[in-house]
Amino acid sequence: MAPPVLAVSGLNVRFHTNDGVLTAVNDLSFELGEGECLGIVGESGSGKSQTFMAALGLLADNGEAGGSVRFRGQEILNAPRKVLDGIRGNRISMIFQDALSALTPTMRIGNQMTELLARHRRLGRNEARARAIEALEGVRIPDAAARFSSYPFELSGGMRQRAMIALATLCGPEVIIADEPTTALDVTVQSQVLRLLDGLRQRTRTSIVLITHDLAVVAGLCSRVMIMYGGRVVETGPVREIFRNPRHPYTQALLRSMPSMTTDPGTDLPAIPGQPPDLENLPPGCPFADRCEHVFERCLEQMPSLVPVGDRHSKACHLEPGP
Ligand SMILES: Nc1ncnc2c1ncn2[C@@H]1O[C@H](COP(=O)(O)OP(=O)(O)O)[C@@H](O)[C@H]1O
Ligand SMILES: [Mg+2]
Repeated sequence: MAPPVLAVSGLNVRFHTNDGVLTAVNDLSFELGEGECLGIVGESGSGKSQTFMAALGLLADNGEAGGSVRFRGQEILNAPRKVLDGIRGNRISMIFQDALSALTPTMRIGNQMTELLARHRRLGRNEARARAIEALEGVRIPDAAARFSSYPFELSGGMRQRAMIALATLCGPEVIIADEPTTALDVTVQSQVLRLLDGLRQRTRTSIVLITHDLAVVAGLCSRVMIMYGGRVVETGPVREIFRNPRHPYTQALLRSMPSMTTDPGTDLPAIPGQPPDLENLPPGCPFADRCEHVFERCLEQMPSLVPVGDRHSKACHLEPGP
């Protein structure tokens, strides 16, 4: 088997706050294969974004990361800034929910693109411009040559999201981290943007991490999914397997609360009773215990470790053989 493009091992992310130390990501390990689309699902605050902020050296000043993140075998966690500058936006790109904040508002789209190319590639002016327009055409922005001179605010939300994807893919990254890339978009634009990413993956074998709180998005695009809760992986496996045979009560609850095709897309998701855990006061046992309908004594005392329950399928739950 080919070595993974990205290998995360025992990753921890902590933040120092006025009230003490908060653990946002707890002993996280996973691998991302070439051309693979891995879904990461979990409620808000489960540690999805900070996992990748840590990996790319983008944590806030009060944050610190431990463990290991290897990119094609090279350790990049807490790597020198120069190393990370050479990787970010070039070999690993991020796409965010909010294109407006990812793009520089005072700079024409085209100039942002040619500047990125100037930083990472030796290209002449005309060549860079041609490459940028090609990238805008690649994400099906109509009249790309004209849009090259537009400012971000002059584009619609959907078009802006496409421009950000064009920027993220400009240097031909090996990995794209798409962090809730379509959450702010309406359903039609959402599926267009997702199809765009999937087409890119198939054409170029780019590996994609798709972060979302929506299992339906994962079902359409990813081959494997990792469910996070309270900074930990609670279940992971092939998407089909997780949908057919979810083994963790949290995954089961997520699936039950999944909107059907007829649900208004504006509805808040997902309605699982109770609150996400307080990361500053995590219980000694399973973080999901106080919301779990199957909770028993051991769950309150001991954190379950992630154990295999099938082919490439693992769960972190004390219930045996499983709910
Ligand atoms: N700079 C910070 N200081 C303190 N806590 C933070 C900071 N940044 C993020 N967090 C906390 O880390 C946790 C995980 O955040 P995040 O990874 O963004 O969640 P997700 O992307 O799953 O919604 C959250 O509880 C968040 O409040
Ligand atoms: Mg997030």
